[in-house]
Amino acid sequence: MVEKDIGFGVLFVCLGNICRSPTAQGVLRDLKAREAPDLYLLIDSAGTAGYHVGHPPDPRSQRAALERGIDLSDLRARRVEARDFERFDLLLAMDRQNLRELERRRPRGARVRAQLFMEYADAGTLEVPDPYYGDAAAFEAVLDLTTAAARGLLAALRNGGREHGLSRGP
Ligand code: 4NP
Repeated sequence: MVEKDIGFGVLFVCLGNICRSPTAQGVLRDLKAREAPDLYLLIDSAGTAGYHVGHPPDPRSQRAALERGIDLSDLRARRVEARDFERFDLLLAMDRQNLRELERRRPRGARVRAQLFMEYADAGTLEVPDPYYGDAAAFEAVLDLTTAAARGLLAALRNGGREHGLSRGP
């Protein structure tokens, strides 16, 4: 795939693709631009559900991100599709349910690594809680958690991915 030829592809996955995974996408995009402009990364996000396809990120997510200087306004929700299992090198789920759903949809023979995003942080949790029915603090928590894990992921990628077993593969 053409995307693979230009670098390492990371896909963030949550349920609706309007809160957690676009936030993670924006946070990593921002961090990469500031701290690792030399790294070739394809960064995208998708949801396991289709409720919000075509919608921009939730206004509460956009507001919380913008307060930290991160603009999510260009992002649009889409659903995970079969070719994502070929296009990307790493699928990062926000919670265990998202990860189970990814594994359930994994096409036969697709070997892409899928794991919990929070494995890249030492934040005392392996999941980014769904903020959709939560308050402002829940959206702040999404930013705190995704920022911590994005830092860990970027460090792993800059390190050639060795310590996390990341590689571009064949
Ligand atoms: P997300 O949050 O998975 O972080 O994008 C949600 C967004 C929408 C819904 C649930 C979670 N929903 O039920 O519409």
